[in-house]
Amino acid sequence: MKKTVFISGGTSGINLGIARGFAAQGAKVLVFGRDGGKAQVAAAQLQEETGAQVIAGSADVRDYAAVEALFASAVETIGAPDVVIAGAAGNFMAPAVGISANGFKTVVDIDLLGTYNVFKAGFAVATKPGASFIAITAPQAVQPLPMQVHVCAAKAGVNMVIKVLAMEWGPAGVRVNGISPGPIAGTEGVERMAPTDEHKANWADGIALRRLGTTSDIAEAAIFLSSENAGYITGTILDCDGGMKLGNASGNYLTPAQR
Ligand code: NAP
Ligand code: COA
Repeated sequence: MKKTVFISGGTSGINLGIARGFAAQGAKVLVFGRDGGKAQVAAAQLQEETGAQVIAGSADVRDYAAVEALFASAVETIGAPDVVIAGAAGNFMAPAVGISANGFKTVVDIDLLGTYNVFKAGFAVATKPGASFIAITAPQAVQPLPMQVHVCAAKAGVNMVIKVLAMEWGPAGVRVNGISPGPIAGTEGVERMAPTDEHKANWADGIALRRLGTTSDIAEAAIFLSSENAGYITGTILDCDGGMKLGNASGNYLTPAQR
């Protein structure tokens, strides 16, 4: 693969898995988060594993000027991006009464403003034809969830950013899509929402495919959405969640014999 891919939040979890997927196919990749040291470790690990050119950066997605400067320097090193992935996010579990105005704003700023900043700065340097933009959204964008009012609000906004920019940038041949992962095993997001094995087993029990996802499930979806095979797909949110959004599949309304 000759692509160049910029990934915000590509230094851990799902986004690191996406970076790994692209690097394994020979793409040049920029991964970045707030912590430049963590990004260096991730990039070095991916380079060693795949032999691809993976560079690291540091920028807070809430700071447009920082993202813009990082992208300008990455273009010098690995070229203009064919793919821009906005994956950085923040989450914690708390009821609305336990979240200060600043707590709510912090998550909205990282998830929603951060996605906007990464896309806007990415579009400014995505000068090659056929660029693909992907935001990592979440089921909370469309599924209300207690203790997640900040994330639900932020990710609902992310879904709208995806759709509006797909309309605005379509005439330039730029596609904009989202991926909505279900719970992905081994990630910070799942550890925060389902810290025990019992939580995780209950969660899996309610999903049609009866398992949590893997980071490579999401990487494959991103590789597909950014490929020429998805050339007529834009403004879409691809659910990659084992059927979780179909509803509770556990059958816990049935008797044990019926299950
Ligand atoms: P994670 O491992 O905690 O990764 C978050 C990444 O974002 C890290 O690289 C982090 O690096 C970076 N980041 C956080 N705040 C940032 C900021 N202000 N500026 C720049 N970078 C920042 O998370 P994850 O659980 O894999 O989740 C990744 C994405 O998938 C998120 O968009 C999340 O909403 C979505 N998602 C996750 C799940 C799941 O099961 N985990 C399910 C549905 C959706 P630094 O700490 O160095 O900044
Ligand atoms: N419950 C309620 N409020 C909380 C909270 C919690 N568990 N954790 C943080 N907050 C509040 C803080 O109290 C603060 O509000 P205040 O100033 O009124 O006290 C506000 O959120 C900002 O906290 P701070 O720690 O300064 O923010 P940060 O920018 O350093 O970190 C977070 C952002 C809070 C989202 C942090 O958890 C983070 O960095 N997350 C990235 C990793 C992650 O969330 N991964 C999962 C991705 S889905």
